[in-house]
Amino acid sequence: MAALSKDHLVAVIGSGAMGAGIAQVAAVAGYTVKLYDTRPEAVAKAISDIALVFNKLVAKERMSAVAAAAAIARLRAAVTLDDVAGAGLVVEAIVENLDAKRGLFAQLEAIVGDDCILATNTSSISVTAIAAKLRKPERLVGMHFFNPVPLMALVEVISGLATDAAVAQAVCDTAAAWGKNPVHAKSTPGFIVNRVARPFYAEGWRLLSEQAADAATIDAVMREAGGFRMGPFELMDLIGHDVNFAVTQSVFHAYFNDPRFTPSVLQQEMVNAGYLGRKSGRGFYSYGDGSTALPQPQTEPARPVPEFVSYTVEQGAKAGAPRVAGSSVADALAERLRAAGITVTHRQSPEARGHAAGADGAPAFHCNGAAVYLTDGRSATERARDNQHPDTVLFDLSLDYASATRIAVTCADQCSPAAYQSVVGLFQAAGFAVTRLDDVPGMAVMRTVAMLANEAADAVNQGVCSAEAADIAMQKGVNYPRGPLAWADAIGIGQIVTVLTNLAASYGEERYRVSPLLRRKHASGAVFHA
Ligand code: NAI
Repeated sequence: MAALSKDHLVAVIGSGAMGAGIAQVAAVAGYTVKLYDTRPEAVAKAISDIALVFNKLVAKERMSAVAAAAAIARLRAAVTLDDVAGAGLVVEAIVENLDAKRGLFAQLEAIVGDDCILATNTSSISVTAIAAKLRKPERLVGMHFFNPVPLMALVEVISGLATDAAVAQAVCDTAAAWGKNPVHAKSTPGFIVNRVARPFYAEGWRLLSEQAADAATIDAVMREAGGFRMGPFELMDLIGHDVNFAVTQSVFHAYFNDPRFTPSVLQQEMVNAGYLGRKSGRGFYSYGDGSTALPQPQTEPARPVPEFVSYTVEQGAKAGAPRVAGSSVADALAERLRAAGITVTHRQSPEARGHAAGADGAPAFHCNGAAVYLTDGRSATERARDNQHPDTVLFDLSLDYASATRIAVTCADQCSPAAYQSVVGLFQAAGFAVTRLDDVPGMAVMRTVAMLANEAADAVNQGVCSAEAADIAMQKGVNYPRGPLAWADAIGIGQIVTVLTNLAASYGEERYRVSPLLRRKHASGAVFHA
């Protein structure tokens, strides 16, 4: 089955925010669309709102007046449900309730032809369950758009147990014809995005509850070092804490209380207080008239620039080829230091000198007696003890060490202030704003990215989606700067396994268990994207 041709009618049932967006996208792509809602005024509002959007696009010269007029002419109101009888595809976007959706599709089966595809935009209900009572359950498929529909490229095409693969493919091709980026997934709680994204919020809550830093500081680190468009707290303020908390609880319960998805009591308190985010005028930040200045992230004061730094060259590491993993990340950092006029000397790793490495390999940098490492999931304090080197300072993962504007550091409880401050001066000299996190295992970006990769790997391992689909979904559905599995490849799957293993050891919690697929890839030396 190929994409639905344009001579087929598309029906959209439910004309709220999502239904209107879906209708707009289909009409712009050249399809005739009928909109239905139990509240006729919702249909009228949807069509007039879409016309307003088109007018703005025409004014900004992003759409021609002719195209806008043609697209509006393709949008029709269905007065009764019977009016969608000739549809080739029906997309349901009504209230998120299983009985309501089942009732609607049962009615539709009596109205539309046998070859009409039935699609649901549900974000949290099992597609298998919605289809279960139908005469032809094989023609029902999930078509999960993201809000706002015209702007978000991702569509998750969800197959329930009974869904015909050809129907799923036709919906996928149709979404592509509408200019979207579709991915296939199996009907499982949270599908891809709402499942794989959980650790982005959950690790933020953990960091906050363990007093690693305040919300504004964690947000700044995730944005300016991690490369995420928004930090977890500003994003949850935008989504609404009530909505985010409800999704987290729904995924947690749907996976039979898997501890990986445990909701945060801190977020429950936000909801209890009515601090719902932007919509209530207050969340982690203040919004609206009475809002005060945005809280500033913690940033270390200027420290003297160390005159001399040495860094470790690993055996086999290509000179000048910065990698994220292990000590060779120092290549990228060393470039920044040299550009700032600091003398940076190479120092061969123990292996390169023909000696066995210590328990911990070589630090990335030595600076005034401090050993400076990329976090491996242990706290700096544990690592200082393990290496018997009190002056241990860790830095966090960065999306790109060559261009990041901020870096997070932490130091062992045993570390001397002078050694710590010289490392701060080092990173400041390289042009970073330096944020100090309290000494939590795995820091902020590293533990979040490791957990995102872990969740994505589990989804792939369980046949929910392919590695490509997982990465596309997270980039196009929630704007991540890199797919979590491509990120794991870049960091090194071994490093991710180490971080998670160390987190599991530190916390003693099932939550940080390593996905069998990560272990398997690590054992064979394979990557997710060759
Ligand atoms: P909404 O509340 O803005 O709109 C729902 C519309 O459906 C209302 O206009 C209502 O009158 C109408 N409706 C309710 N029952 C109906 C029925 N039996 N027949 C016809 N019309 C009916 O909701 P929204 O946000 O547009 O969401 C709709 C669906 O899309 C839900 O299933 C939701 O889970 C899903 N979804 C929502 C997303 C979001 O961010 N809002 C994202 C992805 C999916």
